[in-house]
Amino acid sequence: MAVSEEDRISLSHAESFQDHTKPHEIFTQFRAEEPVAWCPEPWGGPGFWSITKYDDIQEISKLPSIFSSDARFGGITLPSQEMFRNREGVDPKARRQGPAELAKFEGGRSMIMMDPPEHTAHRRMVAPGFTPQTLDALTPRIRDRAVAILDSIGEAGECEFVSSVAAELPIQMLAELFGVPQENRHKLFEWSNMIIGGEDPDIAISREQVMGAYMELAGYAMQLYEARKESPGDDLITMLVQTEVNGEPVSVADYLSAFILLVVAGNETTRNSISGGTVALSEYPEERQKLIDDPSLLQNAVDEIIRWVHPVIYMRRTAVEDYEIRGVEIKKGDKLALWYMSGNRDEDKWDDPFSFNVSRDGPRHLSFGYGQHLCIGWRLAEMQLSVLLEEMLARYPDIEVVSDVARMRTNFLNSIKRVQVRYTPKKAAA
Ligand code: HEM
Repeated sequence: MAVSEEDRISLSHAESFQDHTKPHEIFTQFRAEEPVAWCPEPWGGPGFWSITKYDDIQEISKLPSIFSSDARFGGITLPSQEMFRNREGVDPKARRQGPAELAKFEGGRSMIMMDPPEHTAHRRMVAPGFTPQTLDALTPRIRDRAVAILDSIGEAGECEFVSSVAAELPIQMLAELFGVPQENRHKLFEWSNMIIGGEDPDIAISREQVMGAYMELAGYAMQLYEARKESPGDDLITMLVQTEVNGEPVSVADYLSAFILLVVAGNETTRNSISGGTVALSEYPEERQKLIDDPSLLQNAVDEIIRWVHPVIYMRRTAVEDYEIRGVEIKKGDKLALWYMSGNRDEDKWDDPFSFNVSRDGPRHLSFGYGQHLCIGWRLAEMQLSVLLEEMLARYPDIEVVSDVARMRTNFLNSIKRVQVRYTPKKAAA
């Protein structure tokens, strides 16, 4: 029997993704029977195409002139009802608007919601901050910070892993890259949580709060802008402030949207790869042991964790021309969801894709996207995960999850809010 209408509709609902079992069942059936599948939307939208095979996700990602990310066509997320529900006194039409609408509010579009050639010019503006040389120089600082974070939990023998470890490293590194005082990192953390977590009632329940977080983050970005204009430093903010776009000094709107994108895109995703990886190693202790016994598997394990966790569940594109894929006619104006979560379990690409295997061979996962918008921070994210794993398993080889995993309510990010871990306590080095 084909995937039911109800199941297709469930893919638009954030709560369907609090446990990934059912979505994986739906995607597995789609990959086998209907790899380009039409899914109706629950709140009066026209519907969208679910793209579930690895090769198709790559093909579409390589064609930005046909499959647009531009915010003016709808951007990179599907409309989501949850984001704005529970709000009173808000125009019902506004409830249909998603993050793309919020993005306009921040004073400009960021590169992730642009197509070439505009995208290329904006990506160039931040690219120097992410060269292998720049990032290599950061490695010792990542290690120092990872060690300090891990030592700080040593004596307790048990902790809430997300707030104590997984969230700390990415946000400390972001503060370091931006050259902002570490004391301010918690504000950055809170704002980015509210912006991303808009669909989860634990985090942000109203549009007003999400907007408030945007405004505060933008205000903070402006203070930094003024400060770096006056006295430049050796950091990413100074680089953004001094850069040019198409031969012109960067506009305040472009600076702001680049800043906000970096805070939001680099923070939550890296955190979730650390927490999701730790959960996976706890669920598969034989894989954890393999890694402890053979540290040369570290890079492999990092790849496998990021394939397994798929911190970003999907990205949206909008067709701006007709296009045929696997015999299915995509019409100009149609929305498509590129389900990385599904592409990463494609049976044609990996043997036994539903097993977690730190020594697995296979193609590159899709978790960082592909093509034009390939994640600019992928190397930084991998470095953090790799250093943290290495130092964590050296200290706490028996670390294990001892609670339920509380996931954020969203169909966009695979995000863990809380998870308790236990390990043999260790005294911090003097
Ligand atoms: C495990 C961690 C990460 C994951 C899974 C991830 C995932 C992604 C994905 C899937 C995209 C592609 C979006 C698209 O195709 O529309 C992307 C783009 C992007 N990511 Fe990441 N990301 C991670 C870490 C980071 C970090 C650490 C940074 C920076 C500090 C970062 C900054 C960006 C930026 C700026 C873009 C937009 C690139 C463009 O539009 O050309 N990401 N990321």
